[in-house]
Amino acid sequence: MTQLSGSSDVPDMGRRQFMNLLLVGAGGGAVLGMLYPVVKYFIPPSSEAAGGGVTAKDALGKDVIVSEFLATHNAGDHVLAQGLKGDPTYIIVKEDKSIADFGLNAVCTHLGCVVPWNPNENKFMCPCHGSQYNSEGKVVRGPAPLPLALVHATVEDDKIAFTPWTETDFRTGEDPWWT
Ligand code: FES
Repeated sequence: MTQLSGSSDVPDMGRRQFMNLLLVGAGGGAVLGMLYPVVKYFIPPSSEAAGGGVTAKDALGKDVIVSEFLATHNAGDHVLAQGLKGDPTYIIVKEDKSIADFGLNAVCTHLGCVVPWNPNENKFMCPCHGSQYNSEGKVVRGPAPLPLALVHATVEDDKIAFTPWTETDFRTGEDPWWT
């Protein structure tokens, strides 16, 4: 008898558990579905940053990790990373060994060469036609007509978020030419 009642209970338990699983699954799925936009809002994917920006990436396409970056770079360094729209963008290490809150688009405003940083001269010196920019990207020698474009650089969760700079250019006091 025990075996019989036991065997008749088993399918019931099985069905109940199965239904419970379905309900939990359906309910859980619905809750997750509702939560997804909320969660996504607070946790942007690594390739995106708040405000239409991107996470700075190194030459291998990996996110720049600020603690590792600062361990291997010195005050005054200007280091290329991938920025907005994949543009080469300089991360700047300040004298206090923190990351400057702005980055510089490395594309020369004359005819578009990528401008290398020259640490000995403390300037950007374009190899194409000789334009020079100071450490903040302001033109100190033509023919470049305009300063290097700015982006915001914000440290979040040990990474750097580059976001568009739409405010006044602090170097010239004028509206940004790049927007
Ligand atoms: Fe840089 Fe001409 S492209 S000076």
